[in-house]
Amino acid sequence: MITLIGRKVRKEVEREGGLTILDLAMKHGVDWSFSCTRGTCARCRCLIKEGNGLLSEPTDAELDRLEPEEIEAGFRLGCQAVVKQDGPVTVQYKPYF
Ligand code: FES
Repeated sequence: MITLIGRKVRKEVEREGGLTILDLAMKHGVDWSFSCTRGTCARCRCLIKEGNGLLSEPTDAELDRLEPEEIEAGFRLGCQAVVKQDGPVTVQYKPYF
């Protein structure tokens, strides 16, 4: 189960194949901003509060856009990160602004 926490909406959703965190948020009506969907604008930035080890490795775009300390702290780009394995995952939308 994946808990998605938007600015106002919070939902529990099922993991789905190759869908990114942003894909899941949009599909389930969780308020999550985005712009490029290519990993460059960081509008979709989020914090993995639980279950970081169940996600895909950061993409090259994430490694370019996020500071190593952010990745270390659990920040990801919603349009890039995919939940790969079942288990409890909690993700909160946390853009820079
Ligand atoms: S939507 Fe631009 S980095 Fe994710």
